[in-house]
Amino acid sequence: MFAVQYDRFGGPEVLHLGTTDAPQPQAGQIRIRVHAAGVSPVDVGLRFGRTPMAAHLPLPHIPGVDAAGIVDEIGDDVDGVAVGDHVFGIVELATLGGASAQFAVLQLWAHKPATMPWAQAGAAGTSIETATRALDLLDLRPGMTLLVDGAAGGVGSIAVQLAAARGIHVVGTARPDNHGLLNQLGVTPVTYGPDLPSRLDALGVTRIDRALDVAGAGSLSELLDLTGDPTAVVTLADFTAPTHGVRLSMGQLAGEPDGRHGLPVAGELFTEGRFTVPIEADFPFEKAADAHRTAEHGPRRGKIVLTVDDVRER
Ligand SMILES: NC(=O)c1ccc[n+]([C@@H]2O[C@H](COP(=O)([O-])OP(=O)(O)OC[C@H]3O[C@@H](n4cnc5c(N)ncnc54)[C@H](OP(=O)(O)O)[C@@H]3O)[C@@H](O)[C@H]2O)c1
Repeated sequence: MFAVQYDRFGGPEVLHLGTTDAPQPQAGQIRIRVHAAGVSPVDVGLRFGRTPMAAHLPLPHIPGVDAAGIVDEIGDDVDGVAVGDHVFGIVELATLGGASAQFAVLQLWAHKPATMPWAQAGAAGTSIETATRALDLLDLRPGMTLLVDGAAGGVGSIAVQLAAARGIHVVGTARPDNHGLLNQLGVTPVTYGPDLPSRLDALGVTRIDRALDVAGAGSLSELLDLTGDPTAVVTLADFTAPTHGVRLSMGQLAGEPDGRHGLPVAGELFTEGRFTVPIEADFPFEKAADAHRTAEHGPRRGKIVLTVDDVRER
């Protein structure tokens, strides 16, 4: 099969399109012919060899943890899906990759809504599960106001919609260029940076019940001041969280023992017209290095994705 891969850590130039053996699904897994695969900050950090997880990464490595495609093989102990079904999901997270190839094995998936573009489906898996897990931790109740710091990025743009679908009023920080996107997503936009409370005052936002930090930009003290309660704040990206008594949510998916998780919920919301996956840029697989450059440097408005030629929207 063809696969985007790298044989050594480094800049985007280490990525190349090569060939390798197709993976086989194990029990509880399915294999798809990939139509689209997401490119996320975690893929960039791994490729540079910067994250601690990189020390355990066998090379050559196929980057990408999110993919969508057509089921072509099914492992043992799998129900509810058939060869030929259109699905979107997440690779086995322990492998930290494998999505940007002709075939990929998924550990967690849901049926892709018929009207959901492949690019959106392929880019969304871990962002949906990460956002779902973080929102679950925040014990949200309808009518509350949630502040999302970093609301226009890959995870933030998904978290704000999943929160709104739970009956939450969402205020989101972004650079001014991205306020239009947040308005479209039903979010009250505000510019990030120091002195956030006075900008919220100016907008007439008098109360923040919960806060989700997706940016990791050093705002935890301010978010604590705004909510008045460390248990009302969760971060996905700030490793100083323990010093603030704030929870840092990492790694595990939102999946529960009964198999319920965020992907089918997001799929249903998409079908109802209440959810979309903002796509910043869509590249062919042979331009994977350009996709990684975009993921690294931004500017960002949603997700970056690789799609195979016959499904890319031009
Ligand atoms: N814990 C987990 O399980 C988990 C899972 C996935 C991702 N993450 C982490 O979560 C972070 C975000 O991931 P992502 O995929 O959403 O990244 P992304 O697409 O690059 O989005 C990051 C967002 O941060 C915003 N931002 C930049 N500077 C900011 C500041 N000073 N204050 C507030 N916001 C600021 C940007 O907003 P503008 O574009 O408007 O400037 C951008 O939209 C990354 O660090 C990633 O590693 C953690």
